[in-house]
Amino acid sequence: MQIGIIYCSQSGSTKKLADGLGEALGIEPIDIAKPHILANYDMLFVGCGTYNDVPSDLMINYVNNIPANTIKGAVIFMTNATGKDNTQLLVNGLKAKGIEVFEKHYICPCKRWLFQGKRPDNHDVQRFKKFGVKIVKALQG
Ligand SMILES: Cc1cc2nc3c(=O)[nH]c(=O)nc-3n(C[C@H](O)[C@H](O)[C@H](O)COP(=O)(O)O)c2cc1C
Repeated sequence: MQIGIIYCSQSGSTKKLADGLGEALGIEPIDIAKPHILANYDMLFVGCGTYNDVPSDLMINYVNNIPANTIKGAVIFMTNATGKDNTQLLVNGLKAKGIEVFEKHYICPCKRWLFQGKRPDNHDVQRFKKFGVKIVKALQG
């Protein structure tokens, strides 16, 4: 079972979650803004922030260019200021590639305003790890 994590992160919020899950699963998360090779995955965790009500365009463009038949399933995680689920464009992009998208998305309200400056905190990272590990264990049977 090949599990991967890809993310993009302008200010480090999404990276923090990606690194936490990577540690829990023993996987090196891929920063899509850096040179890398995307292997074939049974399940790919896909993470980014919200920018002007939609997922990061870097991630949208990336997903739109994923070669056909390389990724079977995806789990979306997102950080943003409001905690709203702004994943729709990402869901659409993944599905358009024939990738099955896990019905639950992990949305983490994070820093944008001063009073939210400390998130994602360690509790957020722990919660996300639990979320991701549970999915992977269920997949592995
Ligand atoms: C220019 C800009 C626009 C943003 N627009 C939104 C938005 O529309 N809705 C929202 O909830 N958060 C918004 N945010 C907050 C980011 O989604 C949040 O800081 C996120 O954690 C960034 O993730 P990253 O640092 O991993 O890229 C915006 C942040 C910036 C800098």
